[in-house]
Amino acid sequence: MKGVLICGGTGSRLRPLTDVTNKSLLPVYDRPLIHYPLDVMLKAGIKDIAVVTGTEHVDQIANYLGSGSRFGCTFAFKVQEKAGGIAQALGLAEEFAAGDNVCAILGDNIFFDDITPAITSFEKAEGPERSRRGGHVFLKEVPDPERFGVAEIDGKLDGSFRVTGIEEKPKNPKSNLAVTGCYLYDKNCFEIIRTMKPSARGELEITDVSREYLHRQNLCATVLQKEWIDAGTFESLFRAAEMVRNRATL
Ligand code: DAU
Repeated sequence: MKGVLICGGTGSRLRPLTDVTNKSLLPVYDRPLIHYPLDVMLKAGIKDIAVVTGTEHVDQIANYLGSGSRFGCTFAFKVQEKAGGIAQALGLAEEFAAGDNVCAILGDNIFFDDITPAITSFEKAEGPERSRRGGHVFLKEVPDPERFGVAEIDGKLDGSFRVTGIEEKPKNPKSNLAVTGCYLYDKNCFEIIRTMKPSARGELEITDVSREYLHRQNLCATVLQKEWIDAGTFESLFRAAEMVRNRATL
């Protein structure tokens, strides 16, 4: 399994902070935001990680992360010249992934659940299991699902759920399950991305990649039990720092 940390985009909701640096280098209590998604990968034993960033602050990210030796991993840096969507950013890692499964995590997402078991079971799936596990997403019950990708699920299947519907920021959400920014995909995601068309807002949407797996009947999900936060706004960045501090001082 290869890791892809998705840290491009404009960070427009966090200006002027993101005029100074990339969103993923902003402080969350005692560490830059990028440490949290990076920790998820390191914990799961993922050691080959591509970091996708925009042109503006690629030097700062590379300076900060270095080769990866400090973290016991190896980083490859990919530049997304224009913010053409999360799926486009992931597509830049195709050569890097070299036919392997990928764990893609958005650089502004903080997870408090341990998602290593789901990653391990995705990696290990064999035989008929493998054909049911093309894609795997992580869902969280939220009060404001319209702000996120939203999924519907069906009965449990070996510890995970079958996804029966998925939409990007629907006006009338069919569930309160937000699709968080961690995606496990097999190598077919790159072929899917290559044939995708931009959405109405001009982006290659990650939700469309997951929806294609759903059409192929192999999209599963884990429902997270602990806290999760997308720290992409002033309010949520502030709240993320409080959540991290509360856990650190427990
Ligand atoms: O946080 C979870 C949500 O993330 C999901 O529920 C949504 O389905 C998904 O579309 C995404 O929604 P956001 O509105 O939060 O996406 P945002 O534009 O903030 O981008 C999320 C991260 O992806 C951000 O850290 C920057 C990176 N990104 C974004 C774009 C548009 C890129 O690397 N390249 C891009 O072109």
